[in-house]
Amino acid sequence: MNIVLFGPPGVGKGTQGERLASATGASHLAMGDILRAAVRDETEAGLKARAYMEAGKLVPDEVVVAMIEDKIAGDALAGFLLDGFPRNVPQAEALEAMLARHDMAIERIIFMDAPEEALIERLSGRLICRACGFGFHRHYSPPREAGRCDRCGGELYQREDDREDVIANRLRVYKEQTQPLLAYYQDKPGFRRIDASGEMDAVYAALVKAVEE
Ligand code: AP5
Repeated sequence: MNIVLFGPPGVGKGTQGERLASATGASHLAMGDILRAAVRDETEAGLKARAYMEAGKLVPDEVVVAMIEDKIAGDALAGFLLDGFPRNVPQAEALEAMLARHDMAIERIIFMDAPEEALIERLSGRLICRACGFGFHRHYSPPREAGRCDRCGGELYQREDDREDVIANRLRVYKEQTQPLLAYYQDKPGFRRIDASGEMDAVYAALVKAVEE
């Protein structure tokens, strides 16, 4: 099954998407992770993306569309879960055209939502492993040893764009550019909306139900 997960920054797309992908064997295509790897490796796309990401703005459509098409055409043949793409209506239109070219379709479009206070709390407490990328939260899913990843022992860090000023900008960009996707998708077949304000296992149960129903 091919799935699109979308929603505001910090709603839990990465956390839940990773869990669902490992349970189903689908490829988890997280646009933010793909971009951060390109920035780290200083690829041409990464060099173009860096300043936009640091400011909490969207990277230009032509950059992200080309990156995601490479992934979909390359390593997502057993099904994929798109997290963070599309993020505006032109990207959604580009996705439809790209899937038609590769003879693929989206079976579920899942919108995750939570109140803004919860999003800010989740983002400002997030910690990520520098070595394996696994995510933690200072209060909601703290590591066993402070500053160290439970999975691989790597160092935990706070993302540059999880600073208070950048979070505010990301939420503003979300409202202006990503929220219109809701009107674009909500009448399409396979659209589901889930309440992502609860604790992690409850949100995962709602996600699985939305996929299976
Ligand atoms: P990206 O990395 O995709 O950031 P985002 O969409 O802002 O989403 P986040 O990763 O911040 O949040 P999430 O929903 O995955 O939450 P998570 O599960 O980590 O993108 C970064 C940047 O890249 C963008 O700003 C933009 O510049 C660029 N970009 C990306 N895609 C693009 C595109 N398509 N076009 C153009 N530019 C693009 O959870 C957050 C925290 O909360 C974690 O600590 C987690 O442990 C905790 N948590 C999760 N669920 C719960 C829960 N239920 N209860 C309590 N805590 C929870």
